Amino acid sequence: MDEAAALVLMLSVMAVLLVGVESQQRVCYSGPPPEPDSDNPDDWMKQVMPEIRKRCPGRRQPTPAAECSSPQPLGMVNGTIRDDRITASSSYSCCPASDGRLNNNNGWVAYTFEDANPWIEVDLVEPTVVTGVTTQGLYGYYVTAYKVAYKKQPSSEREHVTDGNGKVKVFVGNIDGNNPVTNLFDESVAATVVRIEPTDWQHEASLRLELLGCRRG
Ligand SMILES: *[C@@H]1O[C@H](CO)[C@@H](O)[C@H](O)[C@H]1NC(C)=O
Repeated sequence: MDEAAALVLMLSVMAVLLVGVESQQRVCYSGPPPEPDSDNPDDWMKQVMPEIRKRCPGRRQPTPAAECSSPQPLGMVNGTIRDDRITASSSYSCCPASDGRLNNNNGWVAYTFEDANPWIEVDLVEPTVVTGVTTQGLYGYYVTAYKVAYKKQPSSEREHVTDGNGKVKVFVGNIDGNNPVTNLFDESVAATVVRIEPTDWQHEASLRLELLGCRRG
């Protein structure tokens, strides 16, 4: 067993201990990350996606509105999602929302001293099938638990991603500031706007993230 596989196994065991057996949550640890190549940011996701697909088999109930058998990174890493499409409830001046991209050198850090309910939001512009999220912290700052909210259309009410029983899902997040953690949703959603809502964090709510799913057309 190589080092990466050993760590994945160890983290999976820890996840089971943390989450408990009654929860059906699929936590898919993909760490430790291969070194990102700044000239080819997509290469990193290409290496990691097979692992994520292997460890997180598809949703239970695919709905026709949200078909996506082969989730792809939706553009936080490669910049298809532009800086001005990424917003947050608050941030330190060092660490704006637009820096909250997986494997970026910097990340988003919320100013939680005055912001008890931080969030970071990504505007995908078009209705997009979103199947999961990969999160990463920054140095000693990381989000250990979070919810995901989304809007079907810009004018729609915000809804939360749920577990299979319709309860708002609290996802298990990161355990350090470096290793990415991927969570696939029990049921994918069709969304134009996706908001990550940290509910628990270490030192400060900080995220570098990628959304996974399928763009239409
Ligand atoms: C970036 O990722 C998006 C979503 O997967 C894809 O549509 C787009 O072609 C990619 N862009 C580049 C420049 O590779």
